Amino acid sequence: GQVTFIETCGTVHEVEIAKGSTLLDAAIQNSIPGMPGACGGDAVCATCHCTVEDEWLNKLPEMSEDEFFMLQSMDDHQPNSRLGCQIRMKDDLDGMIVIVQDN
Ligand code: FES
Repeated sequence: GQVTFIETCGTVHEVEIAKGSTLLDAAIQNSIPGMPGACGGDAVCATCHCTVEDEWLNKLPEMSEDEFFMLQSMDDHQPNSRLGCQIRMKDDLDGMIVIVQDN
């Protein structure tokens, strides 16, 4: 499927992402700035913090407790914040728009 990553500075990256891959995987493969994934995808570093546009928000998998508490601990978390490493691509997420949050 296709995902559009938008940096907070406005730069847009449209990338292909394989089903089952995470947003973090796609960001790393496509060298998208702002998503280094420092913990390797274990929901403990929050460097993959992103916000997801409403249209796709309720199609996302539910948050694990780890993801929830990690996000709550961040000063800049928003109602539509998620950790990119916890979101795997599936058919109904095709076309999703994600804002990459600064660390
Ligand atoms: Fe560390 Fe997602 S890569 S929380």
